[in-house]
Amino acid sequence: MFPENFLWGGAIAANQAEGAYLEDGKGLTTVDMIPHGKKRTYVKFGDMYPVEFMEGEFYPSHDAIDFYHRYKEDIKLFAEMGFKCFRTSIAWARIFPNGDEETPNEAGIAFYTDMFRECKKYGIEPLVTLCHFDVPMGLVRKYESWKSREMIDCFARYARVCFERFDGLVQYWLTFNEINVMLHSPFSGAGLCFKQGENRDQAIYQGAHHELVASALATKIGHEINPNNKIGCMMAGGQFYPYSCNPEDVWLAMNKDRDNLMFIDVQARGYYPSYSKRVFREKNVVLDIREGDLELLKENTVDFVSFSYYSSRCASADPSVSSADGNLFKSVKNPYLKASDWGWQIDPLGLRITMNAMYDRYQKPLFIVENGLGAKDVIEEDGSINDDYRIAYLREHIKAMDEAIEDGVELWGYTTWGCIDLVAASTGEMSKRYGFIYVDRDDAGNGTLERRKKKSFDWYKKVIASNGQELD
Ligand code: BG6
Repeated sequence: MFPENFLWGGAIAANQAEGAYLEDGKGLTTVDMIPHGKKRTYVKFGDMYPVEFMEGEFYPSHDAIDFYHRYKEDIKLFAEMGFKCFRTSIAWARIFPNGDEETPNEAGIAFYTDMFRECKKYGIEPLVTLCHFDVPMGLVRKYESWKSREMIDCFARYARVCFERFDGLVQYWLTFNEINVMLHSPFSGAGLCFKQGENRDQAIYQGAHHELVASALATKIGHEINPNNKIGCMMAGGQFYPYSCNPEDVWLAMNKDRDNLMFIDVQARGYYPSYSKRVFREKNVVLDIREGDLELLKENTVDFVSFSYYSSRCASADPSVSSADGNLFKSVKNPYLKASDWGWQIDPLGLRITMNAMYDRYQKPLFIVENGLGAKDVIEEDGSINDDYRIAYLREHIKAMDEAIEDGVELWGYTTWGCIDLVAASTGEMSKRYGFIYVDRDDAGNGTLERRKKKSFDWYKKVIASNGQELD
């Protein structure tokens, strides 16, 4: 049974929805420099530094779904579904266009104030990520992003402004979206690019240390400004299974999990886990940890642990086992699972397993802040969109969450990813749709941007109204 005050809702991110990429004083961010198409991966992985826009390339974040101008109509639709919670992010560069100004951009603050007020009007609780894959380009150019310690102060100043100016409107916060993604997609995850011959691991883990310290400092500031603030961490989740009971596979799966959990270990427990020493040694990583850093981490752990879940993952020590696509990092194909149109495997029980593993490990409340099915939708002749496949996916995952709650896991809420269609982070496509609401826009940026309810819209409304009991 879901608790009485369970936070049902949906999630988006500024960079994938707002558009208006230079409006009202906003500065450029990393994602604004990531094109759709073949060069996307090179830029995202930090192998091609995007000094300026490339001719002939299309940049989907520039207009996205124009949430910037349409948020009132969109939030009204969320309210119609009965949302209790709406997860979005603040674009750092709307508040500090270059990332390191002394004073904030008032137009950016006004935009988010209005948007959060609009949520509150309908009794919707905002859940706000301070940085979701969009470091200001000013900071990338000046400091090489999180490689530099200067970033900690810039982020702390930005976080302080958000906590102060949105106090009373926002109570639930996440510092960094999918913090572990900097391991797998360093530019889109953390604005990191690499020079030839540079020790990438050194750059990534030093960047991670700076982010972790910045996250702890933001948590401290947020709690000082309002002790009622609930501040969480966020990980790209999905437990690794061993492909077989061969101990080599089991050991590999454990270590692949640890690679990702290391970040959350620090944010939730307050210190680097013991296994990190060996990881750093073997990767020739020597962290520059300054006086006070470890105390800050120790004293400012998060209030809750959140994660995205699209699928479980699988690890095999045998390199001939074929691989499977998935959210951000590859794993091997699990022969027991079916997959989406994009090859992401579907595993509702894996959500229950992941939730139990996370709760066992941290003993802190959980929040599932992303889950959903990216699929191609078809508009029928009568204008309807019958996305039964999405309903089936969500239904099974909601059942799995319910079971995990019965297992004893404390779960605060569930926000499905892309509650309105938006730009895919991995591919930049619009045709990979997650929403209950269809947006008329294609992969090349054509379309009227008109919104249209899908079949899943009424279904989710019923789910929320019945507090997760009516799932048919
Ligand atoms: C997560 C991100 O990685 O997965 C989102 O936090 C992203 O930004 C989501 O959109 C789904 O991935 P994709 O590539 O299908 O958009």
